[in-house]
Amino acid sequence: MHIGILTGGGDCPGLNAVIRAVTLALINEAGATVTGIERGFLGLCRPAMRPLRAPDVEGILSLGGTILGTHNRCDPFHYFGADGADVSAQAVTTLQREGIDGLVVIGGDGTMVIAEGFARLGVPVVGVPKTIDNDLMHTDRSFGFDSAVAVVAESLDRLATTAKSHGRVMIAETMGRYAGWIGLEGGMAGGADVILLPELPFSVEAVAEVCRQRESREGDTLICIAEGAHALNQDQVVRARLADSPEPVRLGGVGQWLSQALQPLVGSEVRSTQLGHVQRGGSPTPFDRVLATRFGYHAAQLVRSGDFNRMVVLQGDTCTSVPLASVAGQSRKVPLDHPLLAAAQGLGLSLGQPRV
Ligand code: F6P
Repeated sequence: MHIGILTGGGDCPGLNAVIRAVTLALINEAGATVTGIERGFLGLCRPAMRPLRAPDVEGILSLGGTILGTHNRCDPFHYFGADGADVSAQAVTTLQREGIDGLVVIGGDGTMVIAEGFARLGVPVVGVPKTIDNDLMHTDRSFGFDSAVAVVAESLDRLATTAKSHGRVMIAETMGRYAGWIGLEGGMAGGADVILLPELPFSVEAVAEVCRQRESREGDTLICIAEGAHALNQDQVVRARLADSPEPVRLGGVGQWLSQALQPLVGSEVRSTQLGHVQRGGSPTPFDRVLATRFGYHAAQLVRSGDFNRMVVLQGDTCTSVPLASVAGQSRKVPLDHPLLAAAQGLGLSLGQPRV
């Protein structure tokens, strides 16, 4: 058995832990040959791969990023060769030429769409859900999320002391795309006074009222805003559009937008910090190391049993799998009846909702 592994889309903490687990489990339990494909699907379009043996994955469990490199623009189904045809068939020929029997594809939503495309071309594929955004369907957790939340919590702790010293309104903008998971859990873990999510459009006046009340009592206000959050009757703030990316829209900047909108409405100074890619870098938390290892091991089991075209998921505390086709192209948002939203409101936090 000869299996290729690749990491696609944005990086996130825990990718190396999955690569290690898949590689070691396939070598130890199935005597398989494992090949690492470099820079995601780009390594199939412009062939770049290398063998992965046990020594190659030694010491990478706690390492951030991905030893294979990644790419968030190369989609072989929308990447055209000299003859004008997409290069997906060429990528399949490359796999056949290398004697690769199947792929373990570690990635987020965009990567799973491409993986599903290869499955339809007859390539046996197992997907492993990666994203700090935690927005993949059918899995309660993707690895990388816990590490991102830890960064947000620590950042809020740091912003809180400077906010308190100056009596300021401090805004921290998290990542998360169209889902508010990082903002919600990061905001709760970091003790934010106001948490603003894409799922609940906010009222600037309601947020300003919280700040004014806190000015006269506690003095400072800590706001955690997800990059996809937006005010009522306003669009999401777009940082960039990358024409050649499978997912061209890059959100970002709503923290700064809110800072400017709030400043005239409150007495204290308002400052905004965009946490950005700091949330994606560095070493995975112990939780993510364990989750990534469980996912990698489960992916290896699916490969061994020939259970292809599925994505590994965590449901409750059980590692299982779902058909790739049921994941691709969908996104999992924070449901409005999520217990953490009720807890936030019960504790007197604001979710930026206007008074009724
Ligand atoms: O999907 C992961 C993520 O970090 C999002 O939270 C964020 O919006 C996006 O990727 C940033 O993408 P890029 O690294 O291309 O700027």
